Amino acid sequence: MTPNDATGVVWPYPRVVAHRGGGTLAPENTLGALRHGASLGFRGVEFDVMLTGDSTPVLIHDETLERTTDGRGEVARLAYGAIEKFDAGRWLAERWRGERVPMFGEAARLCRELGLWANVEIKPAKGFEAQTGRAVAQMALELWRGAALAPILSSFAPEALAAAKAAVPQLPRGMLVDRIPPDWKARMRSLECVALHCNYKALSVPLLEEIHAAGYGVLVWTVNDPRDAKRLFEWGVDSIVTDRLDLIGPDFVRSPKGA
Ligand code: G3P
Ligand code: MG
Repeated sequence: MTPNDATGVVWPYPRVVAHRGGGTLAPENTLGALRHGASLGFRGVEFDVMLTGDSTPVLIHDETLERTTDGRGEVARLAYGAIEKFDAGRWLAERWRGERVPMFGEAARLCRELGLWANVEIKPAKGFEAQTGRAVAQMALELWRGAALAPILSSFAPEALAAAKAAVPQLPRGMLVDRIPPDWKARMRSLECVALHCNYKALSVPLLEEIHAAGYGVLVWTVNDPRDAKRLFEWGVDSIVTDRLDLIGPDFVRSPKGA
């Protein structure tokens, strides 16, 4: 893998990444969403992983089930056997009825089968940061053993990334932030991250140049307007995460519309 001539950063990952599997076109964090993203030609997906009450890593964004399933309660207090019975597709549209909250293992196997690279966001319930970081990293190592391209593990929770690093140092990590903290470089160095994953609104050209000059990749989320996507790629960001799979396609970088 040779470094990008413009930035000097090695970035082997897809440039456009489908947020939560299928963005707004499919129920988030489901197997159906991963299939939908892949069917549209996406080669990279982002999804969120949390531990259930019996320590099963599952794909879900919220700490509670209400928004994205027909169940109720806290993910971290329920066993997977209870959670898997809930419908995780009908909230979006009737045609998605039957989707479940998938286990991380199922999602990883499907990604490999479909040729999807994954940005695995470690999304710990409050109080479970280190436990979730460790469990997700250990499972990811097994699930992607022998894969051409390992997933990047990212998290808003530094404790989760630190635990992932301690358990499986060889899996790449992304420091996920809403705003870029003044001490970003020291934090990234200590967590041995390969990339900064930031809210695209937090980025500026000088900051991007500084981050690239320090040798880190930059992935931005959640970019839903093609004009923003075009500008960010022109600036030189390495990847964008989008909900609008219908507006910002997998080959957007090669043929950016919406100028
Ligand atoms: O990983 C990028 C993005 O997913 C972070 O925010 O809340 O959508 O998980 P959120
Ligand atoms: Mg996420």
